[in-house]
Amino acid sequence: MKGNYWQGIAEKIYDKAASVAKICRDKIPYSTVDGRFDDQTDNISWWTNGFWAGELWQLYGAFGDENLREIAEKIECKLDRVFLDSRGMDHDSGFRWLMSAGADWRLTGSDASKNRLILAANDLAGRFNLAGNFIRAWNDSGDGSKAGWAIIDCMMNLPLLYIATEILHDPRFSQIAAAHADTAMRAFVRPDGSVCHIVEFDPTTGERLRSHGGQGYAHGSSWTRGQAWGLYGFTLSHIHSKKREYLDTAVKIADRFVARIPESGFIPVDFDQPPEPWYEDSTAAAIAACGLIELSKFAGEKYRETAETLLRNLVENRCRFDLGCDNILEKCTAAYHDSWLEGAIIYGDYFLTEAVLKLCGRETFLW
Ligand code: GLY
Repeated sequence: MKGNYWQGIAEKIYDKAASVAKICRDKIPYSTVDGRFDDQTDNISWWTNGFWAGELWQLYGAFGDENLREIAEKIECKLDRVFLDSRGMDHDSGFRWLMSAGADWRLTGSDASKNRLILAANDLAGRFNLAGNFIRAWNDSGDGSKAGWAIIDCMMNLPLLYIATEILHDPRFSQIAAAHADTAMRAFVRPDGSVCHIVEFDPTTGERLRSHGGQGYAHGSSWTRGQAWGLYGFTLSHIHSKKREYLDTAVKIADRFVARIPESGFIPVDFDQPPEPWYEDSTAAAIAACGLIELSKFAGEKYRETAETLLRNLVENRCRFDLGCDNILEKCTAAYHDSWLEGAIIYGDYFLTEAVLKLCGRETFLW
């Protein structure tokens, strides 16, 4: 597909996001209510609270709109409250701060933003379990019940650690990232190239105890967003570390993902879900597309072609560029067994934007 097709889509994304940003300057959206963005400012630790800022920074980088920069900077400042609540800090520090402070630092050189990245990286590094060589995922109510839980999504948070090593010239952070990635290769990736969502380790001995089903259809199934996190996450670890095993793992996960894309081209919530009812998660398609585009730089053009097919399907059938609603991407699903399915989710819009900007050479690489 010609670059000018994607350039046209990037302009449509920018036109819509810039208009929406003007009418909700103070919001930190997660989803929509009656088509309008909700606001998570009072739920400031929520793991997705960096993505709207990330989308605005990407569009600022591509189109230079100062209004978007100002709104994104305000969100970054609001996120400072999260640092003061240990119960709100979890392994998703990468998602929160790479998209907000990291973007600001890359695009403006802000020293305050660099400082936020280092604070976030220190906290993430502190979640490392030495016995099991994994980064603890979520918190619990203080009973230690989740002390041994790690999740595939964490592969996307590791770039925060690689970047902290680059900034500080201190290898501790990338050592922890690599140790976690090595564990994930061994403990999460199945022989067929699919990945588990949650793996539980004994937090004292480090022994792998069991896997859990998580946000997919069932234990042992293939939750598609988890597959996409693994695909993109191992590619990112390869980009930062140059380790061949991470690239091979990313290829293995990607090949399995691509083999299971339905004929319709729409991505289900879980590749193993029953045919009826058929629930979709277009966030998985957008995240996988980003990962496939990056992977194609090391593993061949065919991955980029698949990414373009996935994205064109989204753009033509799952995107709203009109102002009748605030979101762009439709049919986003957080978890298969949720009562709320196939709606708007802000990271769907973020990864769609990132992917389209990659395809027209206007992305700011935030990972
Ligand atoms: N990281 C949680 C999710 O993907 O829903």
